[in-house]
Amino acid sequence: MSKWGIEEKETLNAINELSGITLDVAAGDGRFINKLLEVSDKVIAIDINASELDELKRNYSQNNKLQTEVVDITKEFPYYDSTFDSIFCTGTLHLFDKETIIFIFNEIRRVLKPNGKIVLDFATDIERLDKDGNKVVFDNEGNYSSSEAKELLSNELSDFKLNIEESTFEETNLDDSAGYNSIKGKFLIIVGEKLI
Ligand SMILES: C[S@@+](CC[C@H](N)C(=O)[O-])C[C@H]1O[C@@H](n2cnc3c(N)ncnc32)[C@H](O)[C@@H]1O
Repeated sequence: MSKWGIEEKETLNAINELSGITLDVAAGDGRFINKLLEVSDKVIAIDINASELDELKRNYSQNNKLQTEVVDITKEFPYYDSTFDSIFCTGTLHLFDKETIIFIFNEIRRVLKPNGKIVLDFATDIERLDKDGNKVVFDNEGNYSSSEAKELLSNELSDFKLNIEESTFEETNLDDSAGYNSIKGKFLIIVGEKLI
């Protein structure tokens, strides 16, 4: 199992919208990689942390549809315009401030083909606890409410046909390397199609 938690059924369901060449943005140790490989012809999994990708490769090295690359998504993505049919990103957008999220959306838009599909999630109203029950807060995190996140998504992805659903999540007894023991909150699951 991924150190980042379970494969939520809402996300697995949304992945059915994806196909072709898929970019898994900030893939981590590959929580949803099985399902992404099932629906895609090829998956490129990117993350800033090489050890996350090593873990992913350890589990899935037999699959010749999978490629991994160390990429910092706060910098220009190292891909040509209109490279991907599908782009997937979970558990990550909420970590960044609005300006960085808008930059990432612009890069997603640029490397996605016309009529390409996106599946994103956006965690909101987050509460993390350490093993002793103390709150864990990350300094640079946006800490968005659901309504703030929905407004940001609708404004900044206005050239996408969007469907946004809201759900809740809770993960407990996480690996020490996650930096906290448990996390709960809401999450938005976003399925979109680039209109131009
Ligand atoms: C909470 S984990 C989520 C991993 C996976 N997407 C999932 O849903 O399980 C966040 C991931 O974002 C990655 N990350 C953080 N900042 C990044 C950046 N600037 N560029 C690329 N990846 C980044 C971390 O290394 C980590 O693997």
